[in-house]
Amino acid sequence: MTRQPLLIGNWKMHTSLDDALALAQGTAAIADEVRPSVDVGVCPPFPWIVSIAQKVRGTSLLIGAQDLSADSDGSFTGDVSASMLAPWCQFVLVGHSERRTVHQESDEVVTRKVRAAREHGLGVVLCVGETAAARAAGRAESTVSGQLESALIDVSSDDAATMTIAYEPVWAIGSGTAATVEEIQAMSGTIRRWLTSRHGLVADGIRILYGGSVSQHNVRELFDAADVDGALVGGASLDRGTFRALVEAAIGSR
Ligand code: PGA
Repeated sequence: MTRQPLLIGNWKMHTSLDDALALAQGTAAIADEVRPSVDVGVCPPFPWIVSIAQKVRGTSLLIGAQDLSADSDGSFTGDVSASMLAPWCQFVLVGHSERRTVHQESDEVVTRKVRAAREHGLGVVLCVGETAAARAAGRAESTVSGQLESALIDVSSDDAATMTIAYEPVWAIGSGTAATVEEIQAMSGTIRRWLTSRHGLVADGIRILYGGSVSQHNVRELFDAADVDGALVGGASLDRGTFRALVEAAIGSR
């Protein structure tokens, strides 16, 4: 099955409003150019989402949130619910390692967030990945399988078909050292086999992204990995020219 490449820029807690609007407009122009060969999305900081969604309306750029609350409504100071995001976003990142580590999000919370997003029709980009210590101890694959097992415990095959998995080794994020293409393919293969064991043929259509220090220098070989369908990009998504180069590498990769 052919899976459409997908490139997502995760802007984290970067950009001013002006920078964000300009970057979104530039990235939307790229998204329009490469449509229908490649899907392009961005995850801006929460306060910019509405302005950006209004600005790029009618373009091919997909808008995502970086996180959401596991709860639907209530006294949760600082949190943002799925229903607040749904009018502006097509998808949401769930379980990013910076949420799991900095905010101590447990697997159980990640499971609830996946559920909350699905209930409101938001696409889910589920982030999984092992720490350096887990890899050194030979527990990389069991860590990732465990994260999938927990997060997708009650997800039907119909819902799984709409989801994306992002493999992001914690040690590669923001470190300047990406995983090797062999490591990425090995883990993406493990993820695909896990998905197949649960959801059968549906797994063939689920996109698996790689994230962690993706740059102009390593993006081409990334697409050599058979089970990798795109990238979740942090730092390199903040510069329009660099992000364009990443998107261009995806064209013709399939
Ligand atoms: P990075 O971040 O590309 O800056 O390593 C990736 C991510 O955290 O999604």
